[in-house]
Amino acid sequence: MKKLLPLLAFATVTMTLATGCGKKEAPDSTNATDAGGKKKLTLGFSQVGAESAWRTANSQNIKDEAAKNGVNLVFSDAQQKQENQIKALRSFVAQNVDVIAFSPVVETGWEPVLQEIKAAKIPVVLSDRSVDVSDPSLYASFIGADFVEEGRRAGKFLAEKTGGKATIVELVGTPGAAPAIDRAKGFREAIASHPDMKIVKSQSGDFTRAKGKEVMEAFLRAPDAGQITALFSHNDDMALGAIQAIEEAGRQPGKDIAIVSIDGVKGAFEAMKAGKLNCTVECNPLIGGQIMDLAQKLANHQEVPRRVVSQEGVFDQSKAEAELPSRKY
Ligand code: AHR
Repeated sequence: MKKLLPLLAFATVTMTLATGCGKKEAPDSTNATDAGGKKKLTLGFSQVGAESAWRTANSQNIKDEAAKNGVNLVFSDAQQKQENQIKALRSFVAQNVDVIAFSPVVETGWEPVLQEIKAAKIPVVLSDRSVDVSDPSLYASFIGADFVEEGRRAGKFLAEKTGGKATIVELVGTPGAAPAIDRAKGFREAIASHPDMKIVKSQSGDFTRAKGKEVMEAFLRAPDAGQITALFSHNDDMALGAIQAIEEAGRQPGKDIAIVSIDGVKGAFEAMKAGKLNCTVECNPLIGGQIMDLAQKLANHQEVPRRVVSQEGVFDQSKAEAELPSRKY
């Protein structure tokens, strides 16, 4: 037990800093200096979680780019829970970081904590997902994809692929999350002019492969499951889980059921190469470098663009094999 005590003490200190429940004065993490003794910029980053391959690539890219740009990164994983993100944001204020960036798990409910951050005069960058707030001064910049456009691209692909005739099931992202709301909207817009394209079932798979599989299994157990001819999945991970469920149900993914999803992760390209997925609409997670640039500018009181939209493509099976070796995530 004696030998364990110092370890326990270290773990407690580490956890206290990570959860932000500790003392209010600035810890050493915000006093980090570079080789020349110059104070480094400290960026507090609150990540959604590790729910998908996209998210893992996004987190890694942010960490890599922080190291490359000499930024002292205080990184916190919210495990898909808004209350954890709010705690992390408050802990960044308590630590007096220079800039805060976060990828909000859901769109609403941020006003009070953002007001606290504003009162502490810490600039905020929204990464990947936006928030729904009435006061635009609560954040300085939002960098990320146009999720509505991604949904439109998926709908357009499916309309072309099916000749405008499909009985569609939808795997929705995390309820209340910007990409779930916007992708659903864009997809519906794109299929609106095709009266024979109908969404017959729509349920959240929380952006995870396991939940995507579980929900697709339930769709396939329903008495009318034989009518399903297409799947729109809000991300690749859920589509990959659904592919497994479709195969286990004795149907051919990509053939009996046309599948379009969003993200463009390696696993999706492999599934396209194997003929099991028909299309992935790219959503670029590699925005770490641009986040570091925005953070540096904000810390130096320079102007930053209010909105930075990431550039993304659409890939179907015909492009999968050639594209696969150069995919970075
Ligand atoms: O916010 C981006 C979305 O979040 C990605 O499409 C999904 O894979 C992730 O979990």
